[in-house]
Amino acid sequence: MGIEKSEYQQRREQLMAKVGNGTAIFHSAPMAVMHNDVEYVYRQDSDFYYLTGFNEPEAVAVFAPHHEEHRYILFVQPKDPEKETWTGYRCGVEAAKEKYGADEAYPIAELAEKLPQYLAKADRIYYRLGRDEKFNNRILTLWQRLMAGYQKNGIGPTAIADTRTLTFAMRLVKSPGEIELMRQAAKISAQAHIRAREYARPGVYEYQVEAEIEHTFRLAGAMGVAYPSIVASGANACVLHYIENNCQLKDGDLLLIDAGCSYGYYNGDITRTFPVNGKFTPEQKTLYELVLEAQLQAIAQVKPGNPYNAAHDTAVSVLVDGLLDLGLLIGDKEEIIKEEKYKPFYMHKTGHWLGLDVHDVGLYKHNEETWQALQPGHILTVEPGIYISPYIKPAEGQPEIPDCWKGIGIRIEDDVLVTDDGHDILTADVPKSVAEIAH
Ligand code: GLY
Ligand code: MN
Ligand code: MN
Repeated sequence: MGIEKSEYQQRREQLMAKVGNGTAIFHSAPMAVMHNDVEYVYRQDSDFYYLTGFNEPEAVAVFAPHHEEHRYILFVQPKDPEKETWTGYRCGVEAAKEKYGADEAYPIAELAEKLPQYLAKADRIYYRLGRDEKFNNRILTLWQRLMAGYQKNGIGPTAIADTRTLTFAMRLVKSPGEIELMRQAAKISAQAHIRAREYARPGVYEYQVEAEIEHTFRLAGAMGVAYPSIVASGANACVLHYIENNCQLKDGDLLLIDAGCSYGYYNGDITRTFPVNGKFTPEQKTLYELVLEAQLQAIAQVKPGNPYNAAHDTAVSVLVDGLLDLGLLIGDKEEIIKEEKYKPFYMHKTGHWLGLDVHDVGLYKHNEETWQALQPGHILTVEPGIYISPYIKPAEGQPEIPDCWKGIGIRIEDDVLVTDDGHDILTADVPKSVAEIAH
């Protein structure tokens, strides 16, 4: 399973059709330092990987469709047996052409010398500024140099455009090959959640549940976690990005688990919340059923042609109705929504695009008024929640929250593919109905 060479080639052709008479430059992700001279496992920049499939640092990919000889050029680390003994095998310059389909490849040390020829006749440069100060400066300096003769001959890149204008729309719609990888990431993530609920019981530690989850990921061939696993018992669930995972599960607690794996660079992202002892308290059950209803209704909004925000607006509407019924909010529904008075309970959005990045790229809105319309091949999460922190501060004019509700945090999150006639829940394997998760 994986992306075929021919698909990478199609992506590059699609990109180059947009680049036209320009030149696009993509820089690999840097190695990230864990501490001193110990580094994290290398993760390529997602755009770079999407276009090349090349998984090494210190690399630059150049697309110059107008160039007479070379349209796709890779700059890479050259073979170096001594260095490779320490840090692993490198593809090298020759194989960059054979294996990765570049028309030409050079050692990265030759970038300054070789890059200008691919930019000299470009009418613009596509480059994403802002992520690597040193590299930005190299590109900006080169740009200035290339524009020096513009007055004399009218040739030179007259603008820098952000590469996001090229890749966002491409990456947003997933190909059949990508969907297959996403299904696998979702399936393994689902297995891990099922295992976690079997394992969780009063007395075990959050990190032990985390270990079961991540064991499941690796055992099934996933690269690892898509993001640090959130295993949050009791009131810890009210901290959205709780990752300490060091508390003991207590009888009567809910356990919120937000965990997903990365498989072949594509990500799963699932949240489930369940009672540690298999029995909801009445307050837990009431709020759980409300979040579940919000999630089911929001998922029903995922279909081609619907605006991206329909799921969120539906979730908010259901949650506010429920909180009004419970007396946890009071007043006029429309006003509560307009003035966001529900936010002490529900402070995040109902989802995000999902793909090579967990919070994947792609426009949510085309302009002030127009939301992205969903279309087949989009993949998004649907993840409403309710969080009643022990420290919750109700919005102005809203009632104080009785103690019996405090310390309950619930989120339910699935990964949903937009299909021709509706949607497909990729993470449906993990139970979420009350009957399935409690007795
Ligand atoms: N786990 C990150 C998110 O749900 O967005
Ligand atoms: Mn998510
Ligand atoms: Mn999540």
